[in-house]
Amino acid sequence: MKRARAAHSPRGAIAPALLRWYDRRKRDLPWRRKASPYRTLVSEFMLQQTVVAAVVPFFERFVARFADLPALAAASEDQVLAAWSGLGYYARARNLHRAACAVMDRHGGQIPSDEISLRALPGIGAYTAAAIAAIAFGRSTFALDGNAARVIARLQAVTAAIDRPETRNRLRDFGLAWVPARRPGDFVQAVMELGATVCLPRSPACDICPLASMCAAFQTGQTLRIPLKSARPQRRVVRIASVRMRRGGRVLLVRRKTGLLAGTWMLPSVVTVDGESAGAGARSAARDLGMMPARMTPVGTIRHLFTHRDVTAEVFDATVSSTRAGIARGRGDVSTHDASAPDLLWADELRLDGVAVSSFLRKQLALKRDKSSEPP
Ligand code: ADE
Repeated sequence: MKRARAAHSPRGAIAPALLRWYDRRKRDLPWRRKASPYRTLVSEFMLQQTVVAAVVPFFERFVARFADLPALAAASEDQVLAAWSGLGYYARARNLHRAACAVMDRHGGQIPSDEISLRALPGIGAYTAAAIAAIAFGRSTFALDGNAARVIARLQAVTAAIDRPETRNRLRDFGLAWVPARRPGDFVQAVMELGATVCLPRSPACDICPLASMCAAFQTGQTLRIPLKSARPQRRVVRIASVRMRRGGRVLLVRRKTGLLAGTWMLPSVVTVDGESAGAGARSAARDLGMMPARMTPVGTIRHLFTHRDVTAEVFDATVSSTRAGIARGRGDVSTHDASAPDLLWADELRLDGVAVSSFLRKQLALKRDKSSEPP
């Protein structure tokens, strides 16, 4: 592909102006304060789909729990998912763990510095490989995230939809053309930082922007029109019924096998079909696990927006009077259908620290209890 020409911005002017601004205004973030390839790897995985402010506390907890790459590789996937609990998009956690194992196996524990080797690791695409190569190893490359794409689209007044691969390639080429010989990693972070704190989607603060004089969108009054996006497909609307079955201060959880939340724990649930009452759905969710709930009381409704789903869950409390042999009996911790895959857990609701719990499940557990369904 032909290199895009920086039509409105003299190639040499952008990086110095932006780096000067970055040195004065950059946020004090834990992976910047104390930098290492491992900390860059973890932060870039976390930042793939989550904003900086939400990532910070999870990052600090995660690196306190797994201080370096060998410690992460030596952990079990369950331990990694538990440390990731609440951050969402759990495929990232599974991939980060696999990537750490692959770095141990293939690279003797040293995170590789070139984009090709980085891209060969699980969960690392073009963006993350470039970000790690530039930030952790000072490689001269450019990483285009959503913030950077908006900044560059405005600087160059690009009116093509920024979610199209051709447009993103064009934007990335502009970024690449502006990368300075010194401090490429800071430049990459500075573009993202400008997008996150100044060149905001709906209310860009052009009056304090260090690049306003070089910004084609600003000069032509188009900052609120750019960037353009293609129409998004709507989220699928799903209704589910979930049941909180309790026994001796514990609640029964089921492990998800598939989907974005695979590996995390959920309440026993079924998708309710048209015409089926939520109560009947919750009862069948219990029955599928061999449970005969004595009574079933509605406790409330939770709505949660996932990337592709708009889920409404009606939640019921139930007490358990009998169980089918072999399923969900056990001593009160993990019991199994299949010895190789523990998939049921009687969890202590007050101590979920070691358990991979999604925000969706936390919301369901937080619904006020139905006192009348508690065992006498
Ligand atoms: N988003 C992705 N990586 C980032 C970083 N290193 N700093 C700020 N925002 C980011």
